[in-house]
Formats: sequence, structure tokens, C-alpha cells
Amino acid sequence: MCGIVGYIGPKEKKSILLDGLQELEYRGYDSAGFAVISGGKLSHFKAVGKLANLRKKAADFTSEGPGAAIGHTRWATHGKPTELNAHPHMGAFSYVVHNGIIENYRPLKEELEAQGVRFLSQTDTEVIVHLFEQKIREGLEPFEAFRATIGRLEGAYAILLISEAAPETIFFAKNGSPLLIALDGEEIYFASSDTAVIGKAQEAYYLEDGEYGYARPGEVRLYRPDDEPKALTTIPLPSDKAMAQKDGYRFFMEKEIYEQSTVIGDTILGRVLDEGIEFEELPDGFFDGIASITICACGTSYHAGLTGAYLLERMARIPCRVEIASEFRYKEPLLSPDTLFVTISQSGETADTLEALKMAKRAGLRSLTICNVDNSSIVRESDAAILTRAGIEKGVASTKAFATQVMVLWMLTLHLGQKRGTLESATIRREIDAMRRSPSALLVEEKLHERIHRLSKRYLHGHGFFFIGRDLFFPLALEGALKLKEISYLHAEGYPAGEMKHGPIALADAELFTIALMPRTLLYDKIKSNVEELSARDATILAISPEEFELADDFIRTKHAEHPMLEFFEMMVVTQLLAMEIAIRLGNDVDMPRNLAKSVTVE
Ligand code: F6R
Repeated sequence: MCGIVGYIGPKEKKSILLDGLQELEYRGYDSAGFAVISGGKLSHFKAVGKLANLRKKAADFTSEGPGAAIGHTRWATHGKPTELNAHPHMGAFSYVVHNGIIENYRPLKEELEAQGVRFLSQTDTEVIVHLFEQKIREGLEPFEAFRATIGRLEGAYAILLISEAAPETIFFAKNGSPLLIALDGEEIYFASSDTAVIGKAQEAYYLEDGEYGYARPGEVRLYRPDDEPKALTTIPLPSDKAMAQKDGYRFFMEKEIYEQSTVIGDTILGRVLDEGIEFEELPDGFFDGIASITICACGTSYHAGLTGAYLLERMARIPCRVEIASEFRYKEPLLSPDTLFVTISQSGETADTLEALKMAKRAGLRSLTICNVDNSSIVRESDAAILTRAGIEKGVASTKAFATQVMVLWMLTLHLGQKRGTLESATIRREIDAMRRSPSALLVEEKLHERIHRLSKRYLHGHGFFFIGRDLFFPLALEGALKLKEISYLHAEGYPAGEMKHGPIALADAELFTIALMPRTLLYDKIKSNVEELSARDATILAISPEEFELADDFIRTKHAEHPMLEFFEMMVVTQLLAMEIAIRLGNDVDMPRNLAKSVTVE
């Protein structure tokens, strides 16, 4: 997602920051900025778009000599990608950069505004710098002011703060978002990822959650969450940048599968509250007068839409249809203005989805997009947008974008269900509880990955794969099959399990591989009998289930069997890892499969 770089030392600070941020470009961003304190004086620059824009803006600025500097690349999650919303955020005499989300920023902002503080941006981050300055005004020493500030924050953060109140000093804190301190003699670097400092420093300390402190030339003071001092024990920095960009994983896709647990936490942050689901990005009354929903998307995003339709109809009791955008465009659909038109898109640039949206708008429909890229064409064209907060997705085969799209649709279902009064309060509590447990269902356990790796060698041939499931697990079967064919080039189909006997079962023999999604919480007995029918025809079966299934040739046991969506997410991870391990064994480039592009901007 966003990137952070910091530096304390005598070198030209602008170029250190810009070069460091350049190394973090691969993480995606839509604006950037930096601030320098040198000779007791603060300067800052911000620009929307690529780093080249920031370089141009700061072309005449130099900053050699003792001082400190902080820089940031921003991927918009709260507020549009504008210069005002770009980091660093400023107070009267301090600047802050921040990765993560401050969950309680609204009450903090109200409190500060009541004390006369004026906010410039729409971000959650800005509260940090104002809180800090209020504490200074109350008479606290700068470090005590910083300590008191982070004590008020809830949510996830990696923070760097500089201030005229403490020249040549960087205050830092980490909770839930990555941050490291790298050393080169007296010079001190900070970064959200080691790629930014490889080649500049030799050793680094990777902060743990709850740690904070301050640094000035030749000195780093680190504190544990219980406020006790802690020694800075550094380890050598890796030397391979490409490997560091992938956080040590073999492929971006692998990294993104592992990241799902974290990004889903970002997706729900500040939206899943004790009393229900809130989308502050949606205008008041946005759903008034809406009688039905049409979801429109392509590929993986379409599969997320299919999943959402099951949820929306079942829980929010609102009629919902799902359309493939390229079909929708030419079918001369009947559109009624009391239908909400929902597009789903990772990139926000998919040509068919964009054109379908324009068509719906021409017909007078209200539009909402569920998208990963703010300011993309689809976001700009839509009446409202809910950002999925997955961060940039580099692997062509979508993984974490899908997970976050499904999560947003689940949250939207609950939000609408509450508004429409279709849900008992006990159900709402149960759903919220399950949502909060989703990050753990998405965690990849080493043992599971190893098992899938070992199993994958048996699935490199055959005349085809059938992924089968029922209900919510039918779209997941479609998605599992799509993942496999995209990167392994093996033929795979997703099917509703109950449909097999209406034709496809004719293909069943020992060389037909069936991946059976058998959740405990949703129609277990039904899917079981469908799989038994296939087994009776000698199909090779890999069952994914929390229940032991004797007729399976291979079996992957899942653990989260307390809620259908937790089963969904856990099984999703299994299918993603299976596709990836098969593709790796077949020697394919998992991140850039043949014939595919990440963003399909042509019809
Ligand atoms: C598959 C995949 C594609 C996209 C589709 C729509 O792994 O990524 O099927 O889902 O091209 O793209 P977006 O979501 O960007 O509109």
C-alpha cells in the first residue's frame, strides 16, 4: 500500500527520500510528498500522480547539512488522491507521514475541532500531527507529547513525525503496519520496506507492534509497548532488491495470498463497528428508493459479484441479479431507475465494466462501485465508491482483490439488511463477530501450504478439473477454476455441484480431477451426495472440508467451520495455493501468465 521513507543525517535529503520512495513504487500509489527540517526550518512538497511530478516540483530545492526528513507515497483510502490529502500532513510547526488507518480518527477530530483546530485534509492521518501539537501547547516535552499522542490512537499505523520543536529528530511508532530503522554509522534511515534502504545502510531493526521512540544523529531510543526502554538489536539487511520487493516470497501472487489476512483487516477497519456496518463514503439516503440491485463486472470481480448476490438476497432480502459486463452491454437490458447499479473492479479501468456503467447511468440508475483504485475511471464515473483497500495487486491472477471485494459485499449486505430491517439483532452480532474473525480464516499456515505443495504433484496432468460447490461455494468453485486455468494452463471448470448429473458427469473417470468444496455450515449433506455420485464413477476427488470424507482420494481439512463466510475464505486460500503450486511445478511464470494483462482496457 503506502510507502514511508525517513532519513537523519547530513546528506542531500531530497534525493535520499525520492530515491527511497522510487524503490517503493512497486507497491502502488496515487500521490507523494516529503518534508525536511534543516537549519531549524521546515519545507515540504507534495504532488498528485507519479514521483516525477514531485521531483519536478522540488527541482530547485536542496537540503544538504544536518537535518531530518520524511517522505511518503499514498494509496488513497480516506479521501481522494489530491495534494491536500497527500502526506506529509502538517500542523503549525510539525509534519507527519503515516501508513495504516486510524480507526478512531472521527472522535479525535471532533475533539480537536472543538478546541479550535482547523483541518486541511479529509484524511484520518491529520489528527496525529494536531494531537501532537496540542500536547506541546499544553506544555509537554516533544517526546512526551509524541508518547501521549500515540497513546490516543486506535487502529493500524507506522508513523514518522518531525517538528520544529525538536530539530534533527524523528519520532516514530509502529502498530500493525511495517516499519524498520536502518543504520549507516551516524546516519539513520526509516522505511516501511527494506527495498527502500538496501544499498544505503547495512543493518536494520524491524519494529514490533506497539514499539515507538525517537532518533537523532547517531542515537536511536526505542521503547516497548509497556514504555520500558529496549535495546536496538539490528540484523544485516538483505542484498537482493527483487526478492525484498516480494518480501522474500517467490512470486508476487504468493505474497498477495499471504497478505490477505492483513488487507482484509484494512477493509473492515472503521467500517465494522460494534453496532453495525458504516460506510462513511456513502452519502446520506444513498439507498433510499432502491428496490433491486444489478451487479456488473468481469472475470474474478464477476465471481465476487455472484457471491454477493447470494448474500444480498438471503440476508438483505433485496432482489439482486449479476451480469457479465461484456454481455450486459449488448443484451438491450430492461433497466429501471429504482435499481442500484453496482460495478466491481480491481483496476477501475476495465473497458466493458466502464461502458456498462455509462449505459446504466444513461438509463437513470444510481451507481455504486466496489473498487481498489481511487480516482480510476470507474470510481470517477460512479455516484459513490467503496474502496476495497487491498493495496496494489501485482500478480495478474487476482487474489487479495477478490477477497476484499467479497468482504465489502458481505459488509454491504449487513449495512442494507440493517437499513431494511431484515436482520435480527442476534444475526447482526453473529455476522459482525464472524467478520472480525475473517483475518484469522485467511492466515496461511505453513503446514497447510506444505501439504498443498506435496499434493500438487499428483495434479499436473489429467483431462480436466471440475471445481464443484453449492450456494456461496459455487462462485468460489468458478473462481478456483479460473485461478487454476489462468496460471497452470490446464483445463478447469467451476460447476454447481447439483448440476453435474445434468451432463458433465459423463466426463467422470479416474483422469477427471474433482476439487470438491464441502463446507460444514452450508448444505453439507447435499454436496456430499453429489460428490458420492462422482466417486461412484471413479473420478479422482480432492475434498476440501472440515469433515473427513472417506470417499476422497485426497483430503484437505479446513478449520474454520463456525460460519459459512469463514469457511469460504479458508477454502479460497486453499484453492489459490493449489493453483499456484501446480503452476510452479509446471514451470510457469505465475505472476505474468501468457496471454493475460492485469488491466483490460479494451473491449
Ligand atoms: C483474474 C482476473 C480478471 C479480472 C477481470 C476484471 O484473475 O484478475 O478476471 O478480474 O479482468 O478486472 P477488474 O477487476 O480490474 O475490473
